[in-house]
Formats: sequence, C-alpha cells, structure tokens
Amino acid sequence: EKGGYEHFMLKEIFEQPNSIADSMRGRLDAANGTLTLGGIYEYSQALINARRIIVLACGTSWHSGLVAEYLFEEYCRIPVEVEYASEFRYRNPVIHEGDIVIAISQSGETADTLAAIELAKSKGAIILGIVNVVGSSISRVTHEGAYLHTGPEIGVASTKAFTGQLSVLTMIALSVAHKKGTITQTRYKELLVELARIPAKIKEVLDNNAVVEEIAERFKDAKNFIYLGRGYNFPVALEGALKLKEISYIHAEGYPAAEMKHGPIALIDEEMPVVFIATRDSSYDKVVSNIQEVKARKGVVIAVVTKGDALIPALADYIIEVPPCEEALMPLISVIPLQLLSYHIAVMRGCNVDQPRNLAKSVTVE
Ligand code: M6R
Repeated sequence: EKGGYEHFMLKEIFEQPNSIADSMRGRLDAANGTLTLGGIYEYSQALINARRIIVLACGTSWHSGLVAEYLFEEYCRIPVEVEYASEFRYRNPVIHEGDIVIAISQSGETADTLAAIELAKSKGAIILGIVNVVGSSISRVTHEGAYLHTGPEIGVASTKAFTGQLSVLTMIALSVAHKKGTITQTRYKELLVELARIPAKIKEVLDNNAVVEEIAERFKDAKNFIYLGRGYNFPVALEGALKLKEISYIHAEGYPAAEMKHGPIALIDEEMPVVFIATRDSSYDKVVSNIQEVKARKGVVIAVVTKGDALIPALADYIIEVPPCEEALMPLISVIPLQLLSYHIAVMRGCNVDQPRNLAKSVTVE
C-alpha cells in the first residue's frame, strides 16, 4: 500500500516526479511545441476571450489558484480573482453571464467549493474544473475541465495534488497565451521545454532529503515559524506554513516577504525560524534585503535557494538548494523541500502525519 514508505504522505511526496509526468502525459509535447488539453475544448475560445477569471477553491487548492493568478495575468493578460469559496458564496458576488470560473479541488467533494460553483453556475458563469478524483461531485457539475491524473492522494496533507494542480494550470495558461498571442512563439517553446524538465528537477530536490531532515531535527521544538516569499514564491510560503501547521501542530504563518515589516517583524527573535523561499528570480534582490532585515533582528534564517547562489548562503543560517528553473515554474520545485520539512518535523514530534487531528481528507461540511 505505502510502497515501502513509512507513511502515505512520504510516498506521495516521493511520487511527484512520476505524478507530474503523468499529469503531462498526452498533453505536453515539448519537442513539437504543442499542448493538448482535451478536457477544455468547447470553452477554449471563451477562455481566450475572457475579460476576467474567477478562481474558486479552499486550502491548498486555493494556494495553487494564487499561482494561477500570476500565470494568467503574466502570460494571458487576463485579470484573475482568487476567492475562498466559503467567502465568495455568502457575499452576493458580482458574476456576469459568460464569466469564466476555474474551480480547483483535489477531492471534488469540498462542500463550500461545490456550493460556490453552483451559485456561479446559476448566474450564467462557465465552470471549468481542475479536479483529481474522477467522477467526483465537482467534476460532475462543471461544464468542462481537466483532471490531474496524479492518482489517489491518501495523506490528508495535500502534496502531489498541489503540484499536479500547478502542472495542469500552467499548461492551461500557456495554451491560452499561445492561442491568444500574448506570448511569443520562442518564449512559449522555451517554457514547454522547461515544463518537461520539471520531473527530473523534482527528483534532484528529493535527493536532498537528508539535508532537510537535519534542519527538521534542529527546529522540531520551535513554537512558531514564519514562511516568506515574493512573486510566484508567495503562494509557496502560504503552502509551506499550512503544511507545517496541519501535520506538526506548530503555529506557522506565511506572508509575502515585503509584508513582514507591516507587522510580523515584531515576532522575530533568536527563537524564531524564518523560512525564505529565495530562489533566483526577478525579486531576488528584494528578498536578499528582507533576509538582511531578519538577520539584523537576530532571526534564524532557513533559505531555499537556487543551486550555485553564493550570496544568500553567506547570510542565511541553513540552506536548501534547488535546481535553477524558470520563475513561473519554480513553485513546482520550491514547495518540495517545504513538504519534506513539515513531514520530518511532524514525524519527530510523534504526530500522526497521514491523519492529523481534527482534519478530514475531504471537507464535506460547510
Ligand atoms: O479537496 P480539496 O482540494 O477541495 O480540499 C481543499 C482543502 O480542504 C485542502 O486543500 C486542505 O487544505 C488540505 N488538507 C491541505 O493540505
């Protein structure tokens, strides 16, 4: 069942090179520069013409929706609003006939997401589903959609479904951008080639497991954690914090790194581990300044950095390296060490990682 792993969560973390490849199989053909998403066919023109996109989701799926916001805005030039399904459904939201809704759900059974979809649908929105569980309630109420094809996820903490969602959302965004002409042919092809390299890069990160385990040993008794990132790595910071709190019961918060100075900076002292997702990208210099601000207040910094970076390793207390990667695809890679970190900390604290207290795999109550 667990394929020789101690827990489903660990198995699912280590499955990601394969599950990501599965999510791309038959869809991504990097050699010929094509993307084929059979599930989104009838409404592909509506997506190209969309004046805005509303994303509806909860929890980890909401985090992948945030990454989609960056992707669709950057490459398709379509404004995106990412909504907690539970808030959206109760506030009399503005929905226009023909609006595009992307609903994201691993289980396809989340009560709030389902109800928010039905509300949007009743007002004439087109609903596209990004779902893992085939034949689930959400997959049945959507107009069209794309399954993740990542296989069943058993651990309550979502891992391979998150990266599967990112993979599918990236393929949809790039396909729309290509058809719409908001991306150059060269850039499009480059990104497809890079996308095809993701499984191998994830494998490289997983080979660093022992480094992450040592860091977990050092911080397993911490009372609080902060996770910081900017741009595409901001949702990864939120996801890292959620993973840690749900399975290890350590209080953790994720923030956009620049928001730190508007409040959370007051928490920083010698005891407080601050996890920076600080890979080489367009906000790198800004993140370096944020790390310096934390060090100036005696905070302890754990940084996820791009292999070969010399500057941040000189500033941070602990380093986890990930291979270089396109900025827009980095969340697929940078989240992996954070999944491992929360896993190891939870195991060291004796927690039930696959079935954390008070949580269920699908939240079918509102
Ligand atoms: O099945 P869904 O994707 O709709 O579930 C949404 C959340 O309940 C889920 O992501 C939850 O936050 C996970 N336990 C996170 O690991």
